[in-house]
Amino acid sequence: MTKIAIIGAGPCGLSMLRSFEQAEKNGEKIPEIICFDKQDDWGGLWNYSWRTGSDQYGDPIPNSMYRYLWSNGPKECLEFADYSFDEHFGKPIPSFPPREVLYDYILGRVKKGNLKDKIKFNTTVTNVIHNNKNFELTYRDKKNNSTLKDTFDYVVVSTGHFSVPFIPEYPGMKSFPGRIMHSHDFRDAEEFRNKDVVVLGSSYSAEDVALQCHKYGAKSVTIGYRNNAMGFKWPKGMKEVYHLDRLEGNKAIFKDGYEQKTDAIILCTGYLHHFPFISENLKLKTTNRLYPPKLYKGVVWQNNHKLIYLGMQDQFHTFNMFDCQAWFARDIIMGKIKIPNDVEIESDIKKWVSMEEKLEDPEQMIDFQTEYTKELHSLSDYPKIDFELIRKHFKEWEHHKVENIMTYRNKSFSSPVTGSIGPVHHTSWETAMDDSLKVFLDQPKR
Ligand SMILES: Cc1cc2nc3c(=O)[nH]c(=O)nc-3n(C[C@H](O)[C@H](O)[C@H](O)COP(=O)(O)OP(=O)(O)OC[C@H]3O[C@@H](n4cnc5c(N)ncnc54)[C@H](O)[C@@H]3O)c2cc1C
Ligand SMILES: NC(=O)c1ccc[n+]([C@@H]2O[C@H](COP(=O)([O-])OP(=O)(O)OC[C@H]3O[C@@H](n4cnc5c(N)ncnc54)[C@H](OP(=O)(O)O)[C@@H]3O)[C@@H](O)[C@H]2O)c1
Repeated sequence: MTKIAIIGAGPCGLSMLRSFEQAEKNGEKIPEIICFDKQDDWGGLWNYSWRTGSDQYGDPIPNSMYRYLWSNGPKECLEFADYSFDEHFGKPIPSFPPREVLYDYILGRVKKGNLKDKIKFNTTVTNVIHNNKNFELTYRDKKNNSTLKDTFDYVVVSTGHFSVPFIPEYPGMKSFPGRIMHSHDFRDAEEFRNKDVVVLGSSYSAEDVALQCHKYGAKSVTIGYRNNAMGFKWPKGMKEVYHLDRLEGNKAIFKDGYEQKTDAIILCTGYLHHFPFISENLKLKTTNRLYPPKLYKGVVWQNNHKLIYLGMQDQFHTFNMFDCQAWFARDIIMGKIKIPNDVEIESDIKKWVSMEEKLEDPEQMIDFQTEYTKELHSLSDYPKIDFELIRKHFKEWEHHKVENIMTYRNKSFSSPVTGSIGPVHHTSWETAMDDSLKVFLDQPKR
C-alpha cells in the first residue's frame, strides 16, 4: 500500500487530508497517511499562540498570528468550494472576519470525520532524505523526547513559509534604548498604546501592523518603505517615509531626512522559505514570489515527482487555491493524473515563471494567480466555484483599499459558492475592538 507523509497540519496540510477523505467517500481506496505537526493542535498559523521565541520543548514557535487580526481580503475569495461559509455558520456573515471566526471555519470542514486520528501533534519532522527507493523521515516526538524514523513513498511538504522571520540590521540598532521586534513576534497592539512606533516594510504585514498600532492607540506610527511606498491615504497620526538610514539613540533617521523619536521598531520585513529538515537536493530555494521555480504546476518537485510542496507561492488566493493544489496532488499520488516527460515539465515551468517575471502591478498579479488556480481546478474534480467572481472581487478590494484604507474592511462581497451576499457588519472595523467570534457573529437586532 502506498504510504504518504504530510508535514504540517495548517490549511495546506488539511486540504491534503480533506482531498483524500473525499476520494474515500467516493469509494476509492486511499493510501496510508501520517500527518505530522510540531504544534499541539491543527490549523497552522490560525491556531493563535501567545508564545514567541521557543515552546516548552525548545522548538522555535512557527506561529506569526496576532490578536485582533482580521482577514485582509474578502472571505469570499478564500471560500472552500465544498464547504461554504453559509453551511458552516448557518447564515451569511460579513465579508472580513477576525482570526477566530476564520479558524472556526477552517476546522469546521475537517472536524466531522476522523482526520485528526491521522495527525501526530507535538511532532517535529527533523530530516527527510530519499534513498533512491523511498523517503526516510526522522521525527521528534517532543512530549516523550524521543526520535523515531519511518519510510514513505510520497512526502507532502505543507509547512508554510511565513514562520521564519527575515531580520535585517540597521546602524544604531545595538544601542537603541527601546524595543526592536519582527512582526513574527507581534502579538498585541495594546503594547504600543501611547507609544511612537516605527514600522519597516511595505507589504501586508507593514500595512496591517501599522494600522493595528494606530487603531489601539499608538501616539504615532511612521512606516519606512525601502522600494515601493504603499501610498495609501493614511489617517492622522500615521505617515509613510522613505527607507530607514540609521538610529541615533531613540531617534530614527530616514534617507529622505525625516527624523522621528521612537519607542519601538517593528520589522515587517517578511519571511524566509526555510526547510532545515529536508536534504539539499530536495530543498525548495526561493524568495516570496507567485511562481517559485522547480515546481511543476506549482506543486510537484521537478527532480523527484514523489515530493509535493503545497502553498509555497506568495498568496492572493489562499484556501481554495490550496484545495486545488491538494486535489491535483492527490490525483497524481493515486495515479489518476499522469506526469508528463521532463521536457514538457521544464517547458511548463518556464512558461509560468516567464509570465510571472513580466507582471507589473497588483491587477496583473491577481490575473496571474487566478489563471494558475483555474488551470489546476480544471485538472481535478474539485467542486465548482466561480473563480471569475473571485478575480473581480480581488480587483474591487484593491480599489477599496486605495479609496480608504480605514474602511475597506466594512465592504460586502458575494459568495462564489452560494451567491449569498455578506451582510454589513454591525460595527465598523476601525471601532470594533473586541474581535471574538461571539461578538462578531451576534448581529444586534436593529
Ligand atoms: C500574520 C499573517 C496573517 C495572515 N492572514 C491571512 C488572511 O487574513 N487571509 C488569508 O487567506 N491568508 C492569510 N495569511 C496567509 C497564510 O499563509 C495562510 O492563510 C495559511 O495559514 C497558509 O497555510 P499553510 O498550511 O501553508 O501554512 P501554516 O498555516 O504556516 O501551517 C504550517 C504548519 O506546519 C507545521 N510545521 C512547520 N514545520 C514543521 C515540521 N518541521 N514538522 C512538523 N510540522 C511542521 C506548523 O506547526 C504549522 O502548523 C496570513 C499569514 C500571516 C503570516
Ligand atoms: N490578515 C492580515 O491582515 C495580514 C496581516 C499581515 C500579514 N498577512 C499575510 O502575511 C503574509 C506575509 O506578508 P509580509 O508583509 O510579512 O511579507 P512580504 O509580503 O514577503 O513582504 C516583505 C516586506 O519586507 C520588505 N523588506 C524586506 N527587507 C527589508 C529591509 N531590509 N528594509 C525594509 N523593508 C524590507 C519588503 O520590501 P521590498 O519591496 O523593499 O523588498 C516587503 O515590503 C502575506 O501573505 C500577507 O497576506 C496578512
